[in-house]
Amino acid sequence: MAPHPTRVGLVFGGASGEHAVSIRSAQTVLRGLRSGANGERYQVSCFYIDRRGGWWPEAVATAVLERGLPAEAGDLPGPEEPGGFRGFPDGALEMEVWFPVLHGPNGEDGTIQGLFTLMGVPFVGSGVLGSALGMDKQAMKAAFAAAGLPQVPYACVEASELDASPGDREALLERLESQLGYPCFIKPANMGSSVGISKAGDRAALLAGLELAAGLDRRLVVEQGVKARELECAVLQRADGQGDGLRSSVLGEIRFDADWYDYETKYSEGLSHTVIPAVVSEAVSARARAMALDACRAVAAGGLARVDFFYDEATGSLWLNEINTLPGFTSQSMYPMLWEASGCPLPDLVHELVLGAGGSGQRLNVEGTAP
Ligand SMILES: Nc1ncnc2c1ncn2[C@@H]1O[C@H](COP(=O)(O)OP(=O)(O)O)[C@@H](O)[C@H]1O
Ligand SMILES: [Mg+2]
Repeated sequence: MAPHPTRVGLVFGGASGEHAVSIRSAQTVLRGLRSGANGERYQVSCFYIDRRGGWWPEAVATAVLERGLPAEAGDLPGPEEPGGFRGFPDGALEMEVWFPVLHGPNGEDGTIQGLFTLMGVPFVGSGVLGSALGMDKQAMKAAFAAAGLPQVPYACVEASELDASPGDREALLERLESQLGYPCFIKPANMGSSVGISKAGDRAALLAGLELAAGLDRRLVVEQGVKARELECAVLQRADGQGDGLRSSVLGEIRFDADWYDYETKYSEGLSHTVIPAVVSEAVSARARAMALDACRAVAAGGLARVDFFYDEATGSLWLNEINTLPGFTSQSMYPMLWEASGCPLPDLVHELVLGAGGSGQRLNVEGTAP
């Protein structure tokens, strides 16, 4: 039995375009960690990473969580730092386990996971490899392809290819057109929330889309566009000793009134909604749930993940779209809602996640669980 409540460090915010979503996710995770029996199991301290990457202690973190809005420069006590990680604020070194609630670059990509690994402190979610592979769409797709998982046809492009001579640029566009056709989707490899993604129906739009994405990332992906339903599956790695412990939830579907699920549709109230469980046949559900686990194994993801699919009802085709290793965790997010619908409500879910924390290979001994 643990002699004291386990000290959990919840870190949120982050130098990422998904900073604001992270604050809302952290509110939900904190609520779960303080509910019911978790209140005795865990002593949670919150830490805030501002948009420039600086870490702030509990008092600042709590104020940000209460307001639900990012801190602006004038709100932050202390001198203006140059930005980036400059050391831990008070209390951080006493944490026994870390719960990163960070989305996108500098949090979901293996960077903070590397920091915790070096410290030798366990943390929730994927390690360095799984996080890095899951973040970069080129690397993720290569890993899925190596595992033989179905994906829509795609091509990788480097931003520098756009700087080539006009003749070589034409050749690139022709190659993409003949490989993928129209419509196609152009994506920066390392973003999220549909930022920098566009859909092209002709050559001019393809070039404009490549230039837009190249302004955000060196590594780009172009995909054949499909007309398909968008299904999602949540994965949780349980520390119950059965196999690798990966479990999949019921499926959910994203429905929206827009041509595709772009940034505005994702984050404007009322433009999209979720259907849980997704209305698909038992066979499709079983295929997707098995594929979600295979997707995690292909990129070495652990702890938690949300795996997204395209499903063409007319042909029965099911393609993997992407994996998110730190999926949105707001009260309206698919990840906690899928687990709720699968019989694992929020307090149990976050408890399982902390129990599964093992980034450094250590096992936690939390009261109420057999070692
Ligand atoms: N190949 C595709 N065919 C049809 N729609 C696509 C395709 N790729 C992306 N989309 C649309 O763009 C959205 C965002 O793409 P996604 O790859 O999931 O990026 P992000 O990582 O930013 O969520 C998808 O939810 C879907 O609506
Ligand atoms: Mg997506």
